Amino acid sequence: MPTVVMTGGTGLIGQALVAVLKERGYHIKLLTRRRLANAAGVEYLSWDPQQGQLPVEALLDADYLIHLAGANIAEKRWTASRKQELLWSRTHTLDLLLDVFTHHRHQLKALVSASAIGYYDASQDRWFQETDAPGQDFLARTCVEWEAHARSFEALSVRVVMLRTGIVLSRHGGFLVPFLRALRWGVAPILGSGSQWISWIHVQDLCRLYANALITEQMVGPYNAVAPEPVTQKQLILSLAEMMKQHYFVPLHVPAFVLKMLLGEMSVEVLKSVRVSPQKLQQTGFQFSFPDIHSALTELLHA
Ligand SMILES: NC(=O)c1ccc[n+]([C@@H]2O[C@H](COP(=O)([O-])OP(=O)(O)OC[C@H]3O[C@@H](n4cnc5c(N)ncnc54)[C@H](OP(=O)(O)O)[C@@H]3O)[C@@H](O)[C@H]2O)c1
Repeated sequence: MPTVVMTGGTGLIGQALVAVLKERGYHIKLLTRRRLANAAGVEYLSWDPQQGQLPVEALLDADYLIHLAGANIAEKRWTASRKQELLWSRTHTLDLLLDVFTHHRHQLKALVSASAIGYYDASQDRWFQETDAPGQDFLARTCVEWEAHARSFEALSVRVVMLRTGIVLSRHGGFLVPFLRALRWGVAPILGSGSQWISWIHVQDLCRLYANALITEQMVGPYNAVAPEPVTQKQLILSLAEMMKQHYFVPLHVPAFVLKMLLGEMSVEVLKSVRVSPQKLQQTGFQFSFPDIHSALTELLHA
């Protein structure tokens, strides 16, 4: 039974991914800052990245490493110290693990690390590919650093895959939940002009993608993890209203300057238009179960 060590496995993506990996017969070791009791097929290992503490011996039988750890981008206002934490929680955690595998005998074959489409610049017209240059804003610079730290595992002859993930759609949290709540109150929030492109992915497709990336030898480097059919923010909210059979709602236009006042620099991400192509991923043979917003929302709202 191959062993996967996972960081950030208690989060939105991690919890869904654990279920998929268990089904595929992996033994899973989750590195967490919390104290949690082991469950069938899942061992919780405590670590304290801030203090540089981690259970070295327990990591050395890992065949694969999945890196999802990172302070939540949307949870708090981006002060200077929060920005430092957003970056450090993604890069320093990787450095700690690299140090372990550099100084001990190991059998690690692949690292699959989260990254984000925040890597790219904003554009209303362009489709971004993996070879495009990164943007200049805080999140883009964070993604560049994050990926560079992941790539340092290549020095250990470990195959490194980075999944530049779009907005993850899940019924359990993340982007969709506040919109669902607002629509239940009969309000359809339209952010800024509402015409900004949202490149999204259904959480189940993303989990299958992580599981496939572990064992697909031909997958190396960055991949855009987004469904092939992005939507504008306005299309998304109107599709949601339609699927919820919420026929009566008031469109609530939230102007860009109000978002800036409420969210500070984070508003850049809410308003950023990024249309990203999954072509490189599709060339590996990956098939989306939820390629369009209608199929994704049908599953999320009615399954
Ligand atoms: N959800 C999305 O739409 C989306 C889109 C693009 C990219 N991503 C990226 O994918 C990864 C996983 O996303 P997610 O939505 O599952 O995130 P999440 O729900 O916020 O979970 C992230 C996990 O990281 C750990 N963590 C949080 N702060 C940390 C810190 N300061 N130091 C070390 N570990 C910390 C936590 O695990 P413990 O509390 O157990 O330690 C937490 O469960 C993140 O890196 C995220 O940026 C997500």
